[in-house]
Amino acid sequence: MLRHFMFDILSNMSIKTASVILAAGKGARMRSNIPKVLHTLGGRPLMEYALDLGFDICNKPPIVVVGFESEKVQECIGNRAKIVLQEPQLGTGHALHQTAGVLRGQADMIVVWAADMPLLSKETLQSVVNCQIENEGPISIVTAISNNDRGFGKVIRSELGEVQAIVEKSDATAEQLSINELNVGVYCFRSLWLWDELSALKPSANGEYYLTDLIKSASSQDEKIGVVTTNAVDEIIGINTRVHLAEAETALRTRINNRWMERGVTLIDPANTYIDSNVEIGLDTIVLPNTHLQGNTVVGSECTIGPNSTIRHSVINDRCKIESSVVEHATLGNDVDVGPFGHLRAGAHLDNGVHVGNFGEVKNSYLGPDVKMGHFSYVGDATIGARTNIGAGAITCNYGMDKNKHRTEIGEDVFIGSDTMLVAPLHIGSRVRTGAGSVVTKDLPDDSLAVGVPARIISRAVDDDIQLKDE
Ligand code: UD1
Ligand code: CA
Repeated sequence: MLRHFMFDILSNMSIKTASVILAAGKGARMRSNIPKVLHTLGGRPLMEYALDLGFDICNKPPIVVVGFESEKVQECIGNRAKIVLQEPQLGTGHALHQTAGVLRGQADMIVVWAADMPLLSKETLQSVVNCQIENEGPISIVTAISNNDRGFGKVIRSELGEVQAIVEKSDATAEQLSINELNVGVYCFRSLWLWDELSALKPSANGEYYLTDLIKSASSQDEKIGVVTTNAVDEIIGINTRVHLAEAETALRTRINNRWMERGVTLIDPANTYIDSNVEIGLDTIVLPNTHLQGNTVVGSECTIGPNSTIRHSVINDRCKIESSVVEHATLGNDVDVGPFGHLRAGAHLDNGVHVGNFGEVKNSYLGPDVKMGHFSYVGDATIGARTNIGAGAITCNYGMDKNKHRTEIGEDVFIGSDTMLVAPLHIGSRVRTGAGSVVTKDLPDDSLAVGVPARIISRAVDDDIQLKDE
């Protein structure tokens, strides 16, 4: 018994498994010019989910069969998989057959699934591989019991309960249509059996070579079909139409949002909170409704984000507050608050304690600690020192008449009066003050006060007591 067990372990360890992802189809039911596998779910192309899984299951790059718009799909894949071209696309059986050139004689078992099943888990894939390791027959499949078939093939069983065939919905009789056991489209094959059987496949009525016909082939050879039945309802969402895509999006959103709530993030209305899969969020942060956290965004602890905010590819540290604002490719320190209606664009770096109020826009600029920019101002291509106040309506005129962008440098503790135009390139020293409505075209030294159009320096002392009304 022990010897038998040891033998089993050793033989399992030496079983070579290769993974194949089918991704050559057009996805006609999507009604799209984009190949189906490049449609996005949770901000990532469907293809990427399959690639991750492919790598996880075999610890080496999977083989991906591409065809429709193959260049675009290959661009997405990069060097993360071995590519096999299927041209023309004559069905799932034909697609797998194309991999014979690279796989025949190279693996003992071939695990196959479709790239349009992004929520499939490693566990499910592993379970069909394990099932096939135990199976004396040449195929194991995954089935699911569901009344929502989303166009899946129906599993036909004999009176004794053995799987005999898979019938596509379009080919099913009225009686077969009522079957609620579905073919999930995840298979594990014994390699030695597979290749000749693929060569022997006959086209179906619509001219396609069905991979699923191999089940009938094996059954008619009295071979046993291994079956794993899953009850993971999300995992079996195969995306054939945009309705299915939305269903998967909802399922993924629920999965991601539940995970964040379990980890200590408050989501006021999870159904209306959109967090991409790569995002990170710290403890006790509150995310208000209609907030989108996208791409490689990182949000720290104790922040309040939203409502109605989009944060894209940005890093936000602790205790920040962002309301009804758009933040993209930006970095925020601790205790920063933005909005309502702020827009932080690429390269905006707001240090600790910065305040950007309504209708403030910042691009490619560093705002030092405690800079305040309360209302209606634009800061682009600038460096602003600590504690400087940017008055309402002030603008860095960074786009010169020479059609180049120029920088504005502003020192610490500066007071930029309302509606000041800072015509770059410009250097403004520390503790400078500018009068309301001034148009600054020349550099200003530390401690100066400048007013007018164009601005002229009327004082070089800090304690000058000219009234500068603002805020
Ligand atoms: C297929 C199965 C069906 C199963 C369902 C589960 C067949 C005949 N039917 O149907 O039983 O319930 O998957 O998801 O296999 N592809 C190619 N080359 C082709 C055609 C398709 O690579 O020539 C790829 C597609 O890109 C896709 C996958 O194979 O990723 C499945 O094709 P699809 O047309 O979506 O098959 P279904 O109709 O869903
Ligand atoms: Ca499908």
